[in-house]
Amino acid sequence: MNDETVRILAIETSCDETAAAVVQDGREVLSNVIYTQIPIHTQYGGVVPEIASRSHVEKIVPVVTKALADASMMLEEVDAVAVTYGPGLVGPLLVGVSSAKAMAFAAKKPLIGVHHIEGHISANYIEHPDLRPPYVCLVVSGGHSHLVEVRDYGKYEIIARTRDDAAGEAFDKVARAIGLGYPGGPKIDAAAREGDPHAIDFPRGKVRDSEYDFSFSGVKSAVLNYLNSCRMQGVEVNVNDVAASFQRSVVEVLTERAMMAIDERGLHEFALAGGVASNTALRLSLQKACDERGVRFCVPSPVYCTDNAAMIGAAAYHDYVAGVRDGLDLNAIPNLMLGESR
Ligand code: KG4
Ligand code: ZN
Repeated sequence: MNDETVRILAIETSCDETAAAVVQDGREVLSNVIYTQIPIHTQYGGVVPEIASRSHVEKIVPVVTKALADASMMLEEVDAVAVTYGPGLVGPLLVGVSSAKAMAFAAKKPLIGVHHIEGHISANYIEHPDLRPPYVCLVVSGGHSHLVEVRDYGKYEIIARTRDDAAGEAFDKVARAIGLGYPGGPKIDAAAREGDPHAIDFPRGKVRDSEYDFSFSGVKSAVLNYLNSCRMQGVEVNVNDVAASFQRSVVEVLTERAMMAIDERGLHEFALAGGVASNTALRLSLQKACDERGVRFCVPSPVYCTDNAAMIGAAAYHDYVAGVRDGLDLNAIPNLMLGESR
Protein backbone atom coordinates (compact mmCIF):
# COMPACT_ATOMS: atom_id res chain seq x y z
CA MET A 1 0.00 0.00 0.00
CA ASN A 2 1.48 3.38 -0.95
CA ASP A 3 0.78 6.84 0.45
CA GLU A 4 -1.60 7.60 -2.40
CA THR A 5 -3.95 4.74 -1.52
CA VAL A 6 -7.41 6.01 -0.60
CA ARG A 7 -9.65 3.89 1.58
CA ILE A 8 -13.20 5.06 2.13
CA LEU A 9 -15.74 3.83 4.65
CA ALA A 10 -19.11 4.02 2.90
CA ILE A 11 -22.61 3.84 4.34
CA GLU A 12 -25.93 3.24 2.53
CA THR A 13 -29.34 3.31 4.23
CA SER A 14 -31.65 4.92 1.67
CA CYS A 15 -34.32 2.20 1.66
CA ASP A 16 -34.47 -1.25 3.24
CA GLU A 17 -30.81 -2.32 3.34
CA THR A 18 -28.43 -1.26 6.09
CA ALA A 19 -25.05 -1.43 4.37
CA ALA A 20 -21.43 -0.47 5.03
CA ALA A 21 -18.26 -1.15 3.07
CA VAL A 22 -14.60 -0.21 2.85
CA VAL A 23 -13.46 0.50 -0.71
CA GLN A 24 -9.88 1.13 -1.83
CA ASP A 25 -9.14 3.52 -4.69
CA GLY A 26 -12.73 3.39 -5.90
CA ARG A 27 -12.49 -0.10 -7.36
CA GLU A 28 -11.28 -2.61 -4.80
CA VAL A 29 -13.80 -3.81 -2.20
CA LEU A 30 -12.07 -4.59 1.12
CA SER A 31 -15.37 -5.37 2.85
CA ASN A 32 -19.05 -5.25 1.97
CA VAL A 33 -21.67 -5.85 4.67
CA ILE A 34 -25.39 -5.80 3.89
CA TYR A 35 -28.17 -6.33 6.38
CA THR A 36 -31.42 -6.65 4.42
CA GLN A 37 -34.80 -5.86 5.99
CA ILE A 38 -36.71 -7.73 3.27
CA PRO A 39 -38.00 -10.45 5.66
CA ILE A 40 -39.35 -7.69 7.97
CA HIS A 41 -41.24 -5.87 5.21
CA THR A 42 -42.47 -8.98 3.37
CA GLN A 43 -45.37 -9.38 5.80
CA TYR A 44 -46.62 -5.88 4.82
CA GLY A 45 -46.18 -6.39 1.06
CA GLY A 46 -43.73 -3.48 0.75
CA VAL A 47 -41.34 -1.20 2.66
CA VAL A 48 -42.86 0.50 5.72
CA PRO A 49 -40.73 3.66 6.21
CA GLU A 50 -41.10 3.91 10.00
CA ILE A 51 -40.15 0.28 10.53
CA ALA A 52 -37.25 0.69 8.08
CA SER A 53 -35.91 3.71 10.02
CA ARG A 54 -36.06 1.88 13.31
CA SER A 55 -34.31 -1.17 11.91
CA HIS A 56 -31.52 1.03 10.44
CA VAL A 57 -31.02 2.59 13.91
CA GLU A 58 -30.65 -0.89 15.41
CA LYS A 59 -28.28 -2.23 12.77
CA ILE A 60 -26.09 0.68 11.66
CA VAL A 61 -23.43 0.33 14.38
CA PRO A 62 -23.03 -3.49 14.12
CA VAL A 63 -22.97 -3.28 10.31
CA VAL A 64 -20.29 -0.54 10.25
CA THR A 65 -18.29 -2.35 12.95
CA LYS A 66 -18.30 -5.53 10.87
CA ALA A 67 -17.34 -3.67 7.68
CA LEU A 68 -14.29 -2.20 9.44
CA ALA A 69 -13.39 -5.55 11.04
CA ASP A 70 -13.71 -7.41 7.71
CA ALA A 71 -11.33 -4.88 6.17
CA SER A 72 -9.00 -5.26 9.20
CA MET A 73 -9.20 -1.52 9.80
CA MET A 74 -9.95 0.94 12.56
CA LEU A 75 -12.16 3.94 11.90
CA GLU A 76 -9.10 6.17 12.44
CA GLU A 77 -7.34 4.51 9.49
CA VAL A 78 -9.88 5.35 6.79
CA ASP A 79 -9.31 8.41 4.59
CA ALA A 80 -12.94 9.53 4.45
CA VAL A 81 -16.49 8.62 5.39
CA ALA A 82 -19.02 8.57 2.53
CA VAL A 83 -22.78 8.29 2.81
CA THR A 84 -25.86 8.25 0.59
CA TYR A 85 -27.72 11.52 1.25
CA GLY A 86 -30.48 11.10 -1.36
CA PRO A 87 -32.70 10.20 -3.03
CA GLY A 88 -34.58 7.75 -0.83
CA LEU A 89 -36.82 7.55 2.23
CA VAL A 90 -36.12 10.48 4.52
CA GLY A 91 -36.07 8.54 7.84
CA PRO A 92 -33.73 5.80 6.60
CA LEU A 93 -31.48 8.38 4.87
CA LEU A 94 -31.24 10.41 8.08
CA VAL A 95 -29.98 7.39 10.03
CA GLY A 96 -27.09 6.93 7.58
CA VAL A 97 -26.30 10.65 7.26
CA SER A 98 -26.34 11.24 11.04
CA SER A 99 -24.18 8.18 11.70
CA ALA A 100 -21.67 9.14 9.00
CA LYS A 101 -21.45 12.68 10.36
CA ALA A 102 -20.85 11.39 13.90
CA MET A 103 -18.10 9.02 12.70
CA ALA A 104 -16.43 11.62 10.49
CA PHE A 105 -16.50 14.16 13.31
CA ALA A 106 -15.23 11.72 15.96
CA ALA A 107 -12.38 10.42 13.77
CA LYS A 108 -11.64 13.84 12.19
CA LYS A 109 -12.14 12.51 8.68
CA PRO A 110 -13.61 14.21 5.60
CA LEU A 111 -17.29 13.58 4.95
CA ILE A 112 -18.60 12.97 1.41
CA GLY A 113 -22.31 12.82 0.54
CA VAL A 114 -23.10 10.56 -2.42
CA HIS A 115 -26.11 10.47 -4.76
CA HIS A 116 -27.70 7.01 -4.60
CA ILE A 117 -28.01 6.67 -8.40
CA GLU A 118 -24.42 7.76 -8.87
CA GLY A 119 -23.61 4.89 -6.52
CA HIS A 120 -25.54 2.39 -8.64
CA ILE A 121 -23.72 3.59 -11.79
CA SER A 122 -20.33 3.41 -10.04
CA ALA A 123 -20.95 -0.22 -8.99
CA ASN A 124 -19.73 -1.01 -12.50
CA TYR A 125 -16.20 0.24 -11.71
CA ILE A 126 -15.74 -2.49 -9.09
CA GLU A 127 -15.66 -5.45 -11.46
CA HIS A 128 -14.75 -3.65 -14.68
CA PRO A 129 -11.47 -1.98 -13.71
CA ASP A 130 -10.92 -0.56 -17.20
CA LEU A 131 -14.41 0.97 -17.61
CA ARG A 132 -14.03 4.72 -17.98
CA PRO A 133 -16.34 7.53 -19.12
CA PRO A 134 -17.77 8.31 -21.58
CA TYR A 135 -20.36 5.53 -21.78
CA VAL A 136 -24.12 5.08 -21.72
CA CYS A 137 -25.66 3.67 -18.54
CA LEU A 138 -29.16 2.34 -17.92
CA VAL A 139 -30.07 2.58 -14.23
CA VAL A 140 -33.17 0.60 -13.31
CA SER A 141 -34.11 0.23 -9.66
CA GLY A 142 -37.16 0.17 -7.41
CA GLY A 143 -37.39 3.94 -7.31
CA HIS A 144 -35.67 5.08 -10.51
CA SER A 145 -35.33 4.41 -14.22
CA HIS A 146 -32.77 6.57 -15.95
CA LEU A 147 -30.83 6.34 -19.17
CA VAL A 148 -27.76 8.55 -18.82
CA GLU A 149 -24.59 9.40 -20.64
CA VAL A 150 -21.75 9.32 -18.14
CA ARG A 151 -19.56 12.06 -19.63
CA ASP A 152 -16.97 12.00 -16.89
CA TYR A 153 -16.79 10.86 -13.27
CA GLY A 154 -19.59 12.77 -11.54
CA LYS A 155 -20.84 14.31 -14.80
CA TYR A 156 -24.10 12.96 -16.15
CA GLU A 157 -26.41 13.88 -18.94
CA ILE A 158 -29.87 12.43 -18.46
CA ILE A 159 -31.13 11.05 -21.78
CA ALA A 160 -34.38 9.53 -20.48
CA ARG A 161 -36.31 9.02 -17.29
CA THR A 162 -39.58 7.41 -16.33
CA ARG A 163 -42.70 9.56 -16.41
CA ASP A 164 -44.52 7.41 -13.84
CA ASP A 165 -43.54 4.09 -12.24
CA ALA A 166 -39.90 3.01 -12.05
CA ALA A 167 -39.13 -0.32 -13.72
CA GLY A 168 -38.65 -2.13 -10.38
CA GLU A 169 -41.83 -0.58 -9.03
CA ALA A 170 -43.73 -2.03 -12.01
CA PHE A 171 -42.21 -5.46 -11.34
CA ASP A 172 -43.23 -5.20 -7.67
CA LYS A 173 -46.80 -4.07 -8.42
CA VAL A 174 -47.40 -6.71 -11.09
CA ALA A 175 -45.95 -9.41 -8.83
CA ARG A 176 -48.37 -8.40 -6.09
CA ALA A 177 -51.30 -8.48 -8.54
CA ILE A 178 -50.49 -11.99 -9.71
CA GLY A 179 -49.95 -13.20 -6.14
CA LEU A 180 -46.18 -13.61 -6.16
CA GLY A 181 -45.54 -11.26 -3.22
CA TYR A 182 -42.70 -8.90 -2.30
CA PRO A 183 -40.08 -8.16 -3.55
CA GLY A 184 -41.58 -8.82 -6.95
CA GLY A 185 -38.62 -8.51 -9.29
CA PRO A 186 -36.81 -11.75 -8.46
CA LYS A 187 -40.13 -13.63 -8.27
CA ILE A 188 -41.27 -12.46 -11.71
CA ASP A 189 -37.79 -13.28 -13.04
CA ALA A 190 -38.13 -16.87 -11.75
CA ALA A 191 -41.78 -17.33 -12.84
CA ALA A 192 -41.00 -15.92 -16.30
CA ARG A 193 -38.44 -18.66 -16.87
CA GLU A 194 -41.32 -21.18 -16.75
CA GLY A 195 -43.66 -19.10 -18.93
CA ASP A 196 -44.19 -18.12 -22.58
CA PRO A 197 -43.12 -14.50 -23.21
CA HIS A 198 -45.31 -14.37 -26.33
CA ALA A 199 -48.47 -15.69 -24.65
CA ILE A 200 -50.00 -12.24 -24.10
CA ASP A 201 -49.26 -9.08 -26.06
CA PHE A 202 -48.94 -6.35 -23.42
CA PRO A 203 -48.36 -2.79 -24.66
CA ARG A 204 -44.93 -1.09 -24.87
CA GLY A 205 -44.89 2.10 -22.82
CA LYS A 206 -44.76 5.16 -25.08
CA VAL A 207 -44.64 8.82 -24.15
CA ARG A 208 -46.18 11.15 -26.71
CA ASP A 209 -43.70 14.03 -26.51
CA SER A 210 -40.45 12.06 -26.08
CA GLU A 211 -38.96 9.17 -28.02
CA TYR A 212 -36.73 8.29 -25.08
CA ASP A 213 -38.69 8.66 -21.82
CA PHE A 214 -40.17 5.55 -20.22
CA SER A 215 -43.70 4.90 -18.98
CA PHE A 216 -44.46 1.67 -17.15
CA SER A 217 -47.88 2.43 -15.69
CA GLY A 218 -49.59 1.49 -18.98
CA VAL A 219 -48.22 -2.04 -19.07
CA LYS A 220 -48.98 -2.44 -15.36
CA SER A 221 -52.63 -1.38 -15.96
CA ALA A 222 -52.82 -3.71 -18.96
CA VAL A 223 -51.79 -6.62 -16.72
CA LEU A 224 -54.43 -5.64 -14.13
CA ASN A 225 -57.11 -5.40 -16.85
CA TYR A 226 -56.06 -8.77 -18.24
CA LEU A 227 -56.34 -10.37 -14.77
CA ASN A 228 -59.79 -8.79 -14.23
CA SER A 229 -61.13 -9.97 -17.55
CA CYS A 230 -59.84 -13.51 -16.89
CA ARG A 231 -61.59 -13.45 -13.51
CA MET A 232 -64.86 -12.21 -15.02
CA GLN A 233 -64.78 -14.85 -17.72
CA GLY A 234 -63.82 -17.56 -15.24
CA VAL A 235 -60.61 -18.24 -17.19
CA GLU A 236 -57.70 -19.58 -15.16
CA VAL A 237 -54.67 -17.26 -15.17
CA ASN A 238 -51.33 -18.75 -16.12
CA VAL A 239 -49.10 -16.78 -13.73
CA ASN A 240 -45.89 -17.83 -15.49
CA ASP A 241 -47.16 -16.64 -18.88
CA VAL A 242 -48.31 -13.29 -17.42
CA ALA A 243 -44.90 -12.83 -15.74
CA ALA A 244 -43.00 -13.74 -18.91
CA SER A 245 -45.16 -11.55 -21.18
CA PHE A 246 -44.99 -8.54 -18.82
CA GLN A 247 -41.24 -8.95 -18.48
CA ARG A 248 -40.84 -9.15 -22.27
CA SER A 249 -42.67 -5.83 -22.66
CA VAL A 250 -40.41 -4.07 -20.12
CA VAL A 251 -37.20 -5.67 -21.37
CA GLU A 252 -37.94 -4.80 -25.01
CA VAL A 253 -38.60 -1.14 -24.20
CA LEU A 254 -35.47 -0.81 -22.06
CA THR A 255 -33.29 -2.54 -24.67
CA GLU A 256 -34.70 -0.49 -27.55
CA ARG A 257 -34.18 2.88 -25.82
CA ALA A 258 -30.70 1.96 -24.58
CA MET A 259 -29.58 0.92 -28.07
CA MET A 260 -31.12 4.08 -29.58
CA ALA A 261 -28.93 6.14 -27.24
CA ILE A 262 -25.80 4.13 -28.04
CA ASP A 263 -26.36 4.35 -31.80
CA GLU A 264 -27.11 8.06 -31.69
CA ARG A 265 -24.11 8.93 -29.54
CA GLY A 266 -21.67 6.55 -31.20
CA LEU A 267 -20.33 5.28 -27.88
CA HIS A 268 -18.73 1.85 -27.60
CA GLU A 269 -19.33 1.00 -23.96
CA PHE A 270 -22.61 0.40 -22.18
CA ALA A 271 -23.32 -0.29 -18.50
CA LEU A 272 -26.39 -1.55 -16.68
CA ALA A 273 -27.06 -0.78 -13.00
CA GLY A 274 -29.65 -0.87 -10.19
CA GLY A 275 -31.70 -3.65 -8.59
CA VAL A 276 -33.49 -4.57 -11.85
CA ALA A 277 -30.06 -5.12 -13.46
CA SER A 278 -30.18 -8.55 -11.78
CA ASN A 279 -32.99 -9.52 -14.15
CA THR A 280 -31.92 -12.50 -16.27
CA ALA A 281 -33.93 -11.61 -19.37
CA LEU A 282 -32.79 -7.97 -19.30
CA ARG A 283 -29.13 -8.94 -19.01
CA LEU A 284 -29.43 -11.41 -21.89
CA SER A 285 -31.32 -9.00 -24.12
CA LEU A 286 -28.86 -6.13 -23.58
CA GLN A 287 -25.85 -8.42 -23.96
CA LYS A 288 -27.21 -9.66 -27.30
CA ALA A 289 -28.01 -6.15 -28.57
CA CYS A 290 -24.55 -4.90 -27.54
CA ASP A 291 -22.86 -7.91 -29.18
CA GLU A 292 -24.68 -7.16 -32.44
CA ARG A 293 -23.19 -3.64 -32.41
CA GLY A 294 -19.72 -4.56 -31.19
CA VAL A 295 -20.42 -2.55 -28.03
CA ARG A 296 -18.91 -3.65 -24.71
CA PHE A 297 -21.58 -4.60 -22.16
CA CYS A 298 -20.83 -4.11 -18.45
CA VAL A 299 -23.06 -5.15 -15.57
CA PRO A 300 -22.24 -5.67 -11.89
CA SER A 301 -22.68 -9.03 -10.12
CA PRO A 302 -26.10 -9.22 -8.43
CA VAL A 303 -24.60 -8.37 -5.01
CA TYR A 304 -23.51 -4.97 -6.39
CA CYS A 305 -26.81 -4.42 -8.28
CA THR A 306 -29.11 -4.27 -5.26
CA ASP A 307 -28.50 -1.58 -2.67
CA ASN A 308 -25.04 -1.87 -1.13
CA ALA A 309 -22.40 0.45 0.27
CA ALA A 310 -19.47 -0.67 -1.92
CA MET A 311 -21.05 1.24 -4.81
CA ILE A 312 -21.21 4.36 -2.60
CA GLY A 313 -17.49 4.00 -1.80
CA ALA A 314 -16.74 3.56 -5.51
CA ALA A 315 -18.60 6.79 -6.35
CA ALA A 316 -17.14 8.74 -3.43
CA TYR A 317 -13.55 8.03 -4.51
CA HIS A 318 -13.83 10.32 -7.53
CA ASP A 319 -15.31 13.08 -5.37
CA TYR A 320 -12.51 12.56 -2.86
CA VAL A 321 -9.72 12.97 -5.43
CA ALA A 322 -11.55 15.98 -6.93
CA GLY A 323 -11.49 17.60 -3.47
CA VAL A 324 -15.25 17.45 -2.86
CA ARG A 325 -16.01 17.63 0.88
CA ASP A 326 -19.24 18.07 2.80
CA GLY A 327 -19.77 19.85 6.07
CA LEU A 328 -21.56 18.64 9.15
CA ASP A 329 -24.62 20.46 7.81
CA LEU A 330 -25.05 17.73 5.17
CA ASN A 331 -28.73 16.81 5.16
CA ALA A 332 -30.83 13.97 3.77
CA ILE A 333 -32.55 15.02 0.53
CA PRO A 334 -35.33 12.51 -0.32
CA ASN A 335 -35.91 13.82 -3.88
CA LEU A 336 -32.31 14.69 -4.82
CA MET A 337 -31.86 14.96 -8.60
CA LEU A 338 -28.90 13.39 -10.39
CA GLY A 339 -26.28 16.02 -11.14
CA GLU A 340 -27.85 18.53 -8.71
CA SER A 341 -25.23 20.52 -6.87
CA ARG A 342 -25.35 20.83 -3.10
O1 KG4 B 1 -31.64 -0.79 -6.50
P1 KG4 B 1 -32.56 -1.47 -5.56
O2 KG4 B 1 -32.01 -2.53 -4.64
O3 KG4 B 1 -33.28 -0.43 -4.65
C1 KG4 B 1 -33.65 0.85 -5.11
O4 KG4 B 1 -32.77 1.73 -5.18
O5 KG4 B 1 -34.84 0.99 -5.44
O6 KG4 B 1 -33.73 -2.08 -6.46
C2 KG4 B 1 -34.78 -2.82 -5.92
C3 KG4 B 1 -35.70 -3.20 -7.06
C4 KG4 B 1 -37.00 -3.82 -6.58
O7 KG4 B 1 -38.07 -3.20 -7.24
C5 KG4 B 1 -36.85 -5.28 -7.00
O8 KG4 B 1 -38.09 -5.91 -7.27
C6 KG4 B 1 -36.01 -5.14 -8.26
O9 KG4 B 1 -35.06 -4.15 -7.93
N1 KG4 B 1 -35.33 -6.39 -8.61
C7 KG4 B 1 -35.56 -7.07 -9.76
C8 KG4 B 1 -34.77 -8.26 -9.71
N2 KG4 B 1 -34.08 -8.25 -8.52
C9 KG4 B 1 -34.44 -7.10 -7.87
N3 KG4 B 1 -36.35 -6.77 -10.81
C10 KG4 B 1 -36.40 -7.67 -11.83
N4 KG4 B 1 -35.69 -8.82 -11.83
C11 KG4 B 1 -34.87 -9.16 -10.82
N5 KG4 B 1 -34.18 -10.30 -10.83
ZN1 ZN C 1 -30.97 1.52 -5.14
